[in-house]
Amino acid sequence: MDMSQESNQDRAPLYETMLSHRFQRRSSFHVPGHKNGKGVDAAATEYFASIMSLDFTELAPLDDLHHPTGVILEAQSLAADCFSAEETFFLVNGSTVGNLAMIMSVCAKEEILIVQRNAHKSVIHGLMLAGAKAVFLPPRVDAATGLSTGVSLTDVIRALEDHPTAKGVLLTNPNYYGMGIELSDIAEAVHLRGIPLLVDEAHGAHFGFHPDLPKSALASGADAVVQSTHKMLTAMTMGAMLHVQGNRVDRHLIQQRLGMLQSSSPSYPLMASLDLSRRWIYQRGKESITKALQVVQHFRERVKSKLAAAAIMEKEEHNLSYTFLDPFKITLHDRTGTWSGFQLRDQLALAGCDAEMADAKYVLFQFSLASDEADAEHLFLALSDIFMKLSLKKQDFLEEITNNNRMQLFTQISAPILMALPKKSDASKVKAIPLEASIGFRSAEMVIPYPPGIPLLYIGEQITEQTAAYIKWVAKQGAWFQGAKDAGLTHISIFIE
Ligand SMILES: Cc1ncc(COP(=O)(O)O)c(C=O)c1O
Repeated sequence: MDMSQESNQDRAPLYETMLSHRFQRRSSFHVPGHKNGKGVDAAATEYFASIMSLDFTELAPLDDLHHPTGVILEAQSLAADCFSAEETFFLVNGSTVGNLAMIMSVCAKEEILIVQRNAHKSVIHGLMLAGAKAVFLPPRVDAATGLSTGVSLTDVIRALEDHPTAKGVLLTNPNYYGMGIELSDIAEAVHLRGIPLLVDEAHGAHFGFHPDLPKSALASGADAVVQSTHKMLTAMTMGAMLHVQGNRVDRHLIQQRLGMLQSSSPSYPLMASLDLSRRWIYQRGKESITKALQVVQHFRERVKSKLAAAAIMEKEEHNLSYTFLDPFKITLHDRTGTWSGFQLRDQLALAGCDAEMADAKYVLFQFSLASDEADAEHLFLALSDIFMKLSLKKQDFLEEITNNNRMQLFTQISAPILMALPKKSDASKVKAIPLEASIGFRSAEMVIPYPPGIPLLYIGEQITEQTAAYIKWVAKQGAWFQGAKDAGLTHISIFIE
C-alpha cells in the first residue's frame, strides 16, 4: 500500500466529479441524446432518471478512459493501490474484454500461449483474435464431485519445457464454483522462463481482502490479472478491472488493445461504480466481509443441522485437486436424488430465490459482502420447504452424474493448435449433421454448454467419441448451448474436408 495514497482512498474522485458536474445544472449540447435524463421514457422515470442524470460523456473535467490524465487516472491509481497492483485499467465490457486485451497484448499471430483448457469462452475468442497457437493444459478433476479444477505445477513445467518459445501462461483461478489453487509456485516456474503469468480471476475480485479469503493472484506473483468487479464485489454489471505488475507485460500495448476493443463512449455510471466499489472494499471491506461470512456460516450450519437431504460441498483436507474453496460460494445438492440441480433451481425460483447457476446435480449460490441475514433466511426457508414438505425418494442418478462429470475430456497437454477466426470462404464447407455421425470431423462451431460456459469444442477441433458422448449427456441433463445453430445440439456443424 502506497502511504501517499492512503488518505485518498476515502475519496471516489470520478464519482465525486460527476456528482459536482451534475449539480451545476448545465445545458447539454453533446451526446448522449437523453440530455441528462430529460429524455427518459416517462414510464421508466422512477428508476432511470437519477442514473441518467449522471450518464455523461468525455467532458473536460470528466477525463477520457482511453487517454486518462485526470479523474479517471486518479480513480484507476487508487484502484491499483487498493488491489496491490502497479497499474489498473477500468473495463466497461467485463472480464471478457480484459481477457481479450490481455491475450492480444502478449501474443501475436502464430505465437504460443500455454492455456488452461477449462477457460471461459472469452479466452478462446482472445486466442482466435490474436491468431495465436494454444497449448492446452488439462485441468485436474475433483474426485468427490467430478468438477474440473486447476492445473498441476508438473503440467505447467512440462509445457514450458516442451515449448520454450511460449509467450506466457494463462490460468483461470478460481473456477466458477470457487475452487482454486495456490499460484505462487506456478508463477515462479513461469517467471524462470522470463514470461508472464496471466490470470483470469473473474470470480476472485474479493480475494486478499480478509484473512478468511484466499490470497489474490497478484499477491501470488501473477503479472496481469482480470477481475469481474461486478461478480464478487459491488460494481454494476460489466464493471471489471485489469491489474498489472512488473515489466513482463507491455502496459502500452494493453492500453492500445483496450482502446480498440472497448467502446469510444464508455459508460460513466459504470466507471463510477468501479470507483465506488474500490472505495467500499478499501474502507469497509474487512468489516462487511466479516459480517457477510457470518451470514454464510450461519446459513451453512443451519442447512447441515436441519436439512439432512441437502449436501453442501466442502473442501476436505486431503483433497489435493484444489487448495481452497471460496466461502462465499455454496454448492449444494439433494443427496436423496429426488431433485436434479436444475429442478432445485426452478423450485427455488418459484419461491423467489434466484441461484447463480445449476447443473445436473448441483445448485450454486453466490453470496458476497453485500449479502444479508434476510436473504439467507429466505433461502433457508425455501430450501426447508422443498426438502421437508415434499417426499424425497432415493434415485440412482447421482452416482451416474458424478461419474459422467468425471468423464475426463481433457487429459493430455495438447500440441500447439492454431486458433484462427473462421474465414468467409469456410461457410460453403460447413454442414450440419447428427451429433452421433460427427465423430472424426472437425467442428465448425464452438460448443459451449451453459452452465458453466466452458467450451467443449472450439472451431476446427476434432470431435472425438468421448466428446460427442459427453455433449449428448449434458444436453440430456438440460444444458443449453449458447450460439449453437441447434441449441439442443442433436445436430452439430462440421467442416466437410
Ligand atoms: C472464468 C470467467 N472468466 C471470464 C468471464 C467473463 O466475465 P464478464 O461476464 O465479466 O465479461 C466469466 C463469466 O462468467 C467467467 O466465468
